[in-house]
Amino acid sequence: MELLNKLQWRYATKRFDKNRKLNSEQVNNLLQAANLAPSSFGLQPFAIVMVDDEKIKEKLSPAGFNQPQITEASHLFIFAVRTDLSDKDVDEFVERIVKTRDIVKEDIADYEKTMKSSINKRTPEQRFNWAARQAYISLGFLLSAAAMQDIDACPMEGFSNERFDEILGLKEKGFSSVAMAAAGYRSPDDAYQQNRKVRKSLDEFVIQP
Ligand SMILES: Cc1cc2nc3c(=O)[nH]c(=O)nc-3n(C[C@H](O)[C@H](O)[C@H](O)COP(=O)(O)O)c2cc1C
Repeated sequence: MELLNKLQWRYATKRFDKNRKLNSEQVNNLLQAANLAPSSFGLQPFAIVMVDDEKIKEKLSPAGFNQPQITEASHLFIFAVRTDLSDKDVDEFVERIVKTRDIVKEDIADYEKTMKSSINKRTPEQRFNWAARQAYISLGFLLSAAAMQDIDACPMEGFSNERFDEILGLKEKGFSSVAMAAAGYRSPDDAYQQNRKVRKSLDEFVIQP
């Protein structure tokens, strides 16, 4: 299967070729794939901050422990989760469904109620963690879409969320960063590309009931 070959090819790239940039079609494909990821209820309680500005990358670098991907990758896709998820988010989602499917709000009144009660029964911390789980599915979709286009990428959590939020002005927008993908093209000097992939065998990975 084509996807499996690409997933064997990809690896968490440590050193990118700073001179090679993604074009707008590639970037658009990555964003579309991330946006097409499923989420609980379809609510998408997260957003992506796309950074290709060298000055912003330089600012983020120390907050990411100076990991070279931050300044060498062509683009950073930073996944930011809603911090104050509320009925308002559900209302906006309901509005989107109504418009897209050409229905009336009353048709999905029960669904709206279920979503609101599911959100409101959680503590703010549980709500944030629940929202973050949705963002990670989207990160996975973006990584797979990168591999399908022969684009190198590195999923990354090794950065200060607080400092990223500050630099990107996320707090005031009601978001907080949780993870990112650095994307671009591997440097020929990145030794990690030579490493064999280490994974469990399927016998270890799959639990038989
Ligand atoms: C959520 C998450 C966070 C990660 N954070 C970092 C990171 O901060 N820096 C880094 O170099 N690699 C990071 N990685 C990459 C992993 O180390 C890598 O995916 C793993 O070792 C498996 O290797 P492979 O992706 O090359 O197959 C992260 C991976 C994931 C999924």
